[in-house]
Formats: sequence, C-alpha cells, structure tokens
Amino acid sequence: MGTSLIYRNRFVYELAMRGLYGRHYGARYRAIAALVPDGASVVDVCCGPATLYSRYLRGRSIHYTGVDLNERFIAEVIEAGGHGAVWDLHSQAPLPDADYLVMQASLYHFLPEPRPLIDRMLAAAGKRVIIAEPIRNLASSEYRVLAAIGRRFTDAGDGAQAHRFTEASLDEFFLRYESRVIERSLIAGGREKLFVLSA
Ligand SMILES: C[S@@+](CC[C@H](N)C(=O)[O-])C[C@H]1O[C@@H](n2cnc3c(N)ncnc32)[C@H](O)[C@@H]1O
Repeated sequence: MGTSLIYRNRFVYELAMRGLYGRHYGARYRAIAALVPDGASVVDVCCGPATLYSRYLRGRSIHYTGVDLNERFIAEVIEAGGHGAVWDLHSQAPLPDADYLVMQASLYHFLPEPRPLIDRMLAAAGKRVIIAEPIRNLASSEYRVLAAIGRRFTDAGDGAQAHRFTEASLDEFFLRYESRVIERSLIAGGREKLFVLSA
C-alpha cells in the first residue's frame, strides 16, 4: 500500500492530527518542548512535518535534526530551517548523536518489537530519550469504522500498522527500561503517555 493521504503533506497531516487530538493538539508538543533546555541538540525520530520544530523549538537556541521515512516531511523540515534526513528507522544504522532523542506518536510503527529502535536512541543520546505514545486512539477503537479511519490516517506506507499500545501494554514495554525511567506522565488530555529515560 502506498503512503496514505494523511502523510502526503503537512496541511492534511495537521488537519487529521487536530481531529484526533482536538483541543489537546498543541499540548502534546508543548509537553516535549518543555523538557528540552536551551542550547541542547535534538534528534526527532519519525519527525513528521516537524511541527515540534517549526512551532515549538525553532525560536530557541536548539540544534534540531528530524529523521523520517517521508521525504516530503523532511523537505519541510529543511525548508523551515532545521536539519533533516530521510531515514528508514527499521534499518539498523546508528542514529545521529544528540543530547535529546525524541519520538512522538510513532513507536507503534515498530511493533511487534520496538526495542532495537529504543536501544539505538539510547546509544545516540547524551542526556535523555523522550518517548510519547498514543494510548487511546481510533485505531484501537472497538468501533470498526472509526478504527479503519484511524489506521488509514497513520499508515506510513511501510506495511507496518494496525497494532497500537494501550496504557497497560506501554507500561509493560517500558518495564525493561525501568532503571532508566526518570519520568512518566499522561499528556495531551490523557491521549499520550510520556516516558523520559536517562541515556
Ligand atoms: C503519527 S506520525 C508522528 C509525527 C510526529 N512525531 C508528530 O508527533 O507529529 C508518524 C511518523 O512516523 C513516520 N514513520 C513511520 N514508519 C517509519 C519508518 N520505518 N522510518 C522512519 N519514519 C517512519 C511517518 O512517516 C510519520 O511521519
């Protein structure tokens, strides 16, 4: 299946994300931005159209690099003034080093085994790995029609989709990183759960 409509450009992507997150849309990015101090370097894994950068980090002294499979999104990152690289995160190549490695609403793309990616993020991070993942969403809805829409909206075109985290399965996944977890909290009105890991 090709890249779905949602990932074609920033406008369509943001429209869908606003639909999914409602009035909590901005809060999901603010929660991440608040954890990154001025002067830090950030690698944003599966950055999408880099909304985190263009709306929340660009005005600060932060060195930002977005990586994503989608070359249109990376073109937008670069156009906005950030650094970016087209990158298939399923590849085992080491990630670029930075103080903060961030991934938001993308861990599910790496199910059933997201651990190698988290481990590559930890290897590249000088200070923290920050993961925020949806725990209530349309793709896991019991309502079939909504579930189908939710899946289409988030299909990266790489064939991996349809599996999502619940809060319980996400908590269970991070148990193996327990000694590194320094913060966990619900953000965006409880739609995402945030984990901060020490590098
Ligand atoms: C739901 S979006 C999240 C984007 C952004 N982090 C945000 O929260 O707005 C998921 C992103 O993961 C990217 N993605 C999915 N599979 C990928 C892969 N194997 N390698 C790199 N990027 C991937 C998609 O292109 C998409 O931009």
